Amino acid sequence: MSIIKTRATTDRVVVESFLGGGDHRTLADDVLDGLTRPFKELPPKHFYDSVGAELFDRICELPEYYPTRCEREILATRSGEIASLTGAGELVELGSGTAAKTALLLAAMHDAGTLERYVPIDVTESMVRASATRLVEEFDGLRVHGIVGDFERHLDRVPPSVDRVPRIVAFLGGTIGNFTPGSRRRFLRTLARLLGPDDFLLIGTDLVKDPKIIEAAYDDSAGVTAAFNRNVLNVVNRELDADFVPESFDHVAFFDRDREWIEMRLRAQRPQRVTVGRLGLRLTFAAGEELRTEISAKFTRERIEGDLAAAGLELVDQLTDQDGLFALNLARPGT
Ligand code: SAH
Ligand code: AVI
Repeated sequence: MSIIKTRATTDRVVVESFLGGGDHRTLADDVLDGLTRPFKELPPKHFYDSVGAELFDRICELPEYYPTRCEREILATRSGEIASLTGAGELVELGSGTAAKTALLLAAMHDAGTLERYVPIDVTESMVRASATRLVEEFDGLRVHGIVGDFERHLDRVPPSVDRVPRIVAFLGGTIGNFTPGSRRRFLRTLARLLGPDDFLLIGTDLVKDPKIIEAAYDDSAGVTAAFNRNVLNVVNRELDADFVPESFDHVAFFDRDREWIEMRLRAQRPQRVTVGRLGLRLTFAAGEELRTEISAKFTRERIEGDLAAAGLELVDQLTDQDGLFALNLARPGT
């Protein structure tokens, strides 16, 4: 059973947490399952402790990491259109992070006179609280209902829209690319069930392009992405009493041209033994052995259109930045 804490910080902010004290269990299950496989793997959601969230913020400002810049450009130029086309009064956002780009869309909804409520969902509690407090100060009349939870497990905790105002469910940043294709379709089907007939899905997808541009974005010259990647080992050390030596793993990022996704891995520099105290687990890594920590799929219009259609959703419009590197896809339940 999840632990639920509801706290009204002010009369305009409510934050509910569904990640109770026992929630390191999902990390424990993922470590036990993922690190005992013949090819070791961990899901990317464990990157985002407070250090990981800060490193991700720094990634977003790197010259090589174009997705944030491009998505910000699209939102800065097209949010007015999105607000008027959808008429949305509520914005539900999955993996909201700092909600820095989201403020552009909220501003357009505010200017259109429709903005009522923002519902951010993220595993990192500090970010949900900080963005909620900041945004109610920025937009008069805005209410925030924050959810500290896992969007793969807690979507049923999203409150129904007040007075059935139309809403936008946003999934920005290209985070949908962090699912493998089958899980992505399953997840989109779940998301579709969250949409009423007048609601919209706004989903950011990084686009297929020259692999050199993609690989540079995931292996920046300042080494911030490498630190972000290794940080997942610090998370396992702290939460599960493990003894990984993160510096003894190399950061690896390569574009898989057949699958059209980038992979991040951690490669053992030498043979190593690791103990995960809380699980009574002993692991070995051969020299050069790799642990996959993330895939980040890149999309063509056909790929996202097909995925949406498989979830019963219709692509209304695809908005891209000037250089055609990134896309925001606006979809709605099919007729
Ligand atoms: N939307 C922001 C942040 C993207 S980073 C942007 O576009 O810049 C991915 C975000 O998703 C992080 O804030 C991370 O904490 C959150 N996240 C990752 N996996 C999650 C999960 N399973 N459930 C909820 N949040 C998750
Ligand atoms: C959150 N997600 C969309 C980012 C991405 O690009 O896949 C995470 C990230 N990994 C390395 N750099 C950024």
